[in-house]
Amino acid sequence: VLDNKYFESIIETNDEWIRTRTGISERRILENGATSDLAAGAIKDLLSSKNLSPEEIDVIIVATVTPDMFFPSTAALVQEKIGASNAWGFDLSAACSGFLFALQTGASLIESGKFKKVIVVGADKMSAIVDYTDRNTCILFGDAASAVLLEPTEDKNYGLIDSILRVDGNGKESLYMKGGGSLNPASEETIKNKMHYIYQDGKAVFKVAVKGMADVSVEMMDKHGLKGEDVAYLVPHQANLRIIDATASRMGVTKDKVMININKYGNTTAATIPLCLTEYYREGKVKKGDKLILAAFGAGYTWGSCYLVWSMD
Ligand code: COA
Repeated sequence: VLDNKYFESIIETNDEWIRTRTGISERRILENGATSDLAAGAIKDLLSSKNLSPEEIDVIIVATVTPDMFFPSTAALVQEKIGASNAWGFDLSAACSGFLFALQTGASLIESGKFKKVIVVGADKMSAIVDYTDRNTCILFGDAASAVLLEPTEDKNYGLIDSILRVDGNGKESLYMKGGGSLNPASEETIKNKMHYIYQDGKAVFKVAVKGMADVSVEMMDKHGLKGEDVAYLVPHQANLRIIDATASRMGVTKDKVMININKYGNTTAATIPLCLTEYYREGKVKKGDKLILAAFGAGYTWGSCYLVWSMD
């Protein structure tokens, strides 16, 4: 666990600045291992809670921007780690919107009628690409994975009802990793210029994130005739508490109905939304029939909103 005090010891910052500007108090860092270890751990936990064996899984979708390596996919590595001998799978790259993009993809596979059990896992080891000398970004991110299981339902009133997803490459230079890919293959030069780390123009991203997340969420509510009081929970991507507050306020959703855990984990990229869902569900705070609006914004830019009705007791 890296708390704000730790950052006071490595960069020029302070606990109060971090808490008031971001809402973050702590973040978790994986010391040994990779993204596939985080993802495999989350899926094993999910399978044991549902009393399922890994052989029953049809598909594994790993939403991540920190794959163990370019190839093979993290999904392949996860498949081996959990022993899902009948599964196929792939990685999906949509940064902080990765879970929403993967959720819609997984739901479409279920709707095709061909697959019955799809695992969607959001997993990122952000500490692998954070520059711990850059005070603008290093305080923001943490490592995590969280997984959900998608299954068919006969009742059309439950599950993923709708999604509005967007991508706009105009945001490509506001939040990105410049080196290591085919554009700037890793070299002494790219390492020297710190191109293997996250670069973010925080102010620019903040502005578009507030607008993007709120716009799609309000569009979703209008489309389905939902008012703030109809929504059991807003489940926002956890990047900054001020972005979350602004989104909730535009939607007319009161603070008590916003899932928040950014204080403990920071921004864990693709993992934030399923991590919120899992924690609140396990604490008994989500019940069957609850209407949830999931919302995210991330690098690309990518953003979106999903409307789902919780189907479990
Ligand atoms: N501690 C103390 N001061 C810091 C700091 C830190 N860790 N990081 C930056 N500062 C300084 C800046 O250098 C700046 O000083 P200056 O005015 O002398 O240059 C000052 O604090 C204010 O910086 P600013 O960028 O205006 O702060 P902010 O209120 O916009 O907050 C972020 C910065 C990064 C928290 C905020 O922009 C943010 O959350 N952006 C979006 C992040 C995000 O959502 N990313 C992922 C999308 S998925």
